[in-house]
Amino acid sequence: MIANDIHILAIETSCDDTSAAVVKNGVILSNIIATQELHNKYGGVVPELASRAHQINIVPVVDEALKKASVSLEQLSAVAFTAGPGLIGSLLVGATFAKGLALSLNIPLIDVDHLEGHLFTAFIKENDFDQVPSFPFLSLTVSGGHTQLAVVNDFDNVEVLGKTIDDAAGEAFDKCAKLMGLGYPGGPIIDLLAKKGNPLAFHFPKPNIKSFDFSFSGLKTSFLYLLRDKVKEDNDFILKNKEDLAASIQKTIIDILIEKLQYAYDSTKIKFVTVGGGVAANSYFRDRLVDFAKKNDLKLFLPSKKYTTDNAAMIATVAFYKYLKGYYADLNFTPYSHK
Ligand code: KG4
Ligand code: ZN
Repeated sequence: MIANDIHILAIETSCDDTSAAVVKNGVILSNIIATQELHNKYGGVVPELASRAHQINIVPVVDEALKKASVSLEQLSAVAFTAGPGLIGSLLVGATFAKGLALSLNIPLIDVDHLEGHLFTAFIKENDFDQVPSFPFLSLTVSGGHTQLAVVNDFDNVEVLGKTIDDAAGEAFDKCAKLMGLGYPGGPIIDLLAKKGNPLAFHFPKPNIKSFDFSFSGLKTSFLYLLRDKVKEDNDFILKNKEDLAASIQKTIIDILIEKLQYAYDSTKIKFVTVGGGVAANSYFRDRLVDFAKKNDLKLFLPSKKYTTDNAAMIATVAFYKYLKGYYADLNFTPYSHK
């Protein structure tokens, strides 16, 4: 080991995935995720069950992350954790574990905002030579809880252009999937069904917001009304049309995202664009992003799918840059459910 190597262990427990990652000098050595399947049968995440599962998972997940990275506790330079936003009980499990470990090893503790993790996903490196965006870049975060468009000038200088005024993009996927009687989370199920459907089969109105803000709740309502009216005529309507319904609702959600990105690019002319958050795993969205980049001759940093949904690698990556700047948390730090 070179004396100056920086090893950071990061823990992410904001929702229903228990994840731990180890980063060495900015390069990810391991990223372990234990997904809590137990929520599937409830059609959504049950907060109390999530915290209890985190408590069970956290030690084996951290242990596996260290083993996979071949890094010992003594080699760690800092311990990082997701500070929020998220489920408070779940956040507390990760934060408390990180505090205990940092205290026992007498090393710095680093708090990382979950949204910043998604925002800087394109900075996750698996190799030293992996390319990362240059500042400033345009960033679109599309997760289950947030939709945010921003100009990122530096790690500690983010100008938010717009956010959702109601539902998040991932929430729109999840709610529409629920209306169709599909499982949770709905995004990946719609993604899969849509591959066999016609995106032009059904038409849904798009919000007409003349700013960088987003809105998805009207779309969900018009989807609900369509299903309600058609099911009245034919009980099996959803079953017979699920692929076309999935493809059409997916196209509308993605159209809204791409139109906002286009507006942001036209307004700022910033040539570097990144996306993050679970919806950035959507295969149709990824194809549309590639087209968008080509059409505007800009450079797209599209993170691999495994880093778009919740993971500790993104927390470790931000923690590394915070470590370099000496941005540490103290042991009194309290996680937050909202910003
Ligand atoms: O970032 P994430 O894992 O957790 C939050 O921070 O919310 O995002 C989860 C969201 C869910 O709404 C899920 O349905 C959506 O991301 N999602 C997808 C896909 N994979 C996950 N949405 C569309 N297509 C996908 N392939
Ligand atoms: Zn997330």
